[in-house]
Amino acid sequence: MSEARGHILVVGASSGVGRAVAERFAPTAQVTAVARRADRLAELAAAGVATVAADVADLAGIGGLIQGIVAERGLLTGLIYCAGLQVIKPMRALAVDEVERLYRVNLVAPTVFASAFASARVSTRDGVFCAVSSVAAQRPEPAIVPYAASKAGLDALIKGLARELAPRRAVGVAPGWLDTEMTQAQGRVYTAEFREALEKRSPAGIATVESVVDAITFLLSPQARHVTGEILRVDGGATL
Ligand SMILES: NC(=O)c1ccc[n+]([C@@H]2O[C@H](COP(=O)([O-])OP(=O)(O)OC[C@H]3O[C@@H](n4cnc5c(N)ncnc54)[C@H](OP(=O)(O)O)[C@@H]3O)[C@@H](O)[C@H]2O)c1
Repeated sequence: MSEARGHILVVGASSGVGRAVAERFAPTAQVTAVARRADRLAELAAAGVATVAADVADLAGIGGLIQGIVAERGLLTGLIYCAGLQVIKPMRALAVDEVERLYRVNLVAPTVFASAFASARVSTRDGVFCAVSSVAAQRPEPAIVPYAASKAGLDALIKGLARELAPRRAVGVAPGWLDTEMTQAQGRVYTAEFREALEKRSPAGIATVESVVDAITFLLSPQARHVTGEILRVDGGATL
């Protein structure tokens, strides 16, 4: 059960971590969910979540999107940025447009959302900005270098926001590998052998979406009121 209260905006809520966060918070808070796939968002609407279909890569649209959401449902007590995309390719094979899109969704859009969140017309003074980073920020692996760099930028964004937006808090979670649509789409890379090797080097076991949502629930809660600028690693110890 979540203790989340108020109005929480979950960006990237149609699947994976974002969807699980929206479902967790829906019983106790007003939740507004944003993603592109309207059909998948419709499933959340049944749980009482307000939904808005939007592409966050449309950076110019973000300000109006947030204004509309706040006008309809009130100031935000939390914004959880879960949208993300991964490109798995060696550096030599990267196309300019895919690099540009990756940074847009993983780093530029959360910066624009955070900029809006900083306003007293958008968020409450005790509001919390939370973003889903990755252990890749601290340990960039070959073939996901731009992804790792985008998440390292996100970590710096969170730490900077924690200082500039106070008394609002800014926090993040850094999951290790998770079984979600993002990784399921890369079946050739994330094979049974990959999972077996990961299991072996994860002292607390492979992390799950639920354990990441547990971490987010804590970070949003009053129990974490003195936690800010922190990016909590949830990877079963795989990167120790
Ligand atoms: N899976 C992992 O192993 C792993 C590990 C560490 C960190 N993470 C991070 O966890 C976060 C959530 O990923 P996930 O694993 O839960 O994958 P997922 O199921 O693919 O979820 C990604 C979410 O982002 C949304 N999204 C992507 N591009 C968007 C856009 N342009 N506009 C609006 N929404 C967009 C997707 O919705 P639509 O497609 O409907 O737009 C979806 O709801 C990401 O930031 C990812 O980098 C994942």
